[in-house]
This record gives sequence, C-alpha cells and structure tokens, in this order.
Amino acid sequence: PNILVIHGPNLNMLGKRNQNFYGSRSLEDINNIIERKANEIDFNVDIYQFSSEGDIITKLNEAFNEYDGVIINAGAYTHYSIAIRDAIEILKIPVIEVHLSNIYNRDEFRKKSVISPVCKGQISGFGYVSYLLALEAIKYLLQED
Ligand code: DQA
Repeated sequence: PNILVIHGPNLNMLGKRNQNFYGSRSLEDINNIIERKANEIDFNVDIYQFSSEGDIITKLNEAFNEYDGVIINAGAYTHYSIAIRDAIEILKIPVIEVHLSNIYNRDEFRKKSVISPVCKGQISGFGYVSYLLALEAIKYLLQED
C-alpha cells in the first residue's frame, strides 16, 4: 500500500516549538520513525510538509488515484480550513487526522476540528506516536476490505 503523509504549517519547526505540546523531536526525526514503522508493515510512505493551505489542497487532489490512505496533520488549518475539509471529502480512501498534542485539553479554539467530520477517524495527543497509530489504523482498515 501507498500512504500519503501530510504535515501542515509550522510542523517543520518541531523541536523548536513548545515541547510540552509537541515533544523534542525534529520533523526529520519523526519522519524517520514513520518510515521505519512503514517498512515494518510493508507500507510505502510519501511524506510532505506544506506551510500553505493551497499546497496541501493540491496534494490532496493529486492523491485521488495515487494512494491507498492519507495521514494528515493539518496544524492550525485543522480548526478553520473548509477548503482542506472539502479536499478530503472528495477522496474515497481512508483519511486519518492526527495531532501530536491533545487538541481537547488546550485552548478553546483548538477543540474544534472542521476536518474531522470528513475523516475516517482522529488520533490526538500521543506525540509522534499519533502518526504510528494512524499507520496501524490504515493497516487494519485495508485488511477489512
Ligand atoms: C497540532 C495542533 C494544532 O492546534 C496546532 O495549530 C498545530 C499542531 C498538533 O499536532 O498537535 O500546529 O495539529
């Protein structure tokens, strides 16, 4: 299976952001861990980081016939981007929403995700492990069909 992983804005700054929420690892460290896990379960992962909303949407549109699943951490766009939500809604493959931090025990404005209604599910609060759990989730989902 081919899996698309999208990291949204400011995730390129991991390691320098608030470590209580996001941990100490850099995005490169996390990407290496994701790739290792993917190898273990025979998945191919293509990993991108985009700062702008339009780039995320373009990549989601391109995913239509290219991937078996998507893992997306849309960063702050999670909370207000109807355009990203619409792009996810088009896809017929499972899209898993992930967050490093638990978006429900932070600021009030982070409690709302406008993308979760069109995602298969959400994994939030496990640090970089959230991405690994998302890979496992897709593995089980693909075994079902
Ligand atoms: C985040 C949570 C968002 O609220 C925040 O804007 C981020 C990262 C997370 O992974 O915990 O940039 O998506």
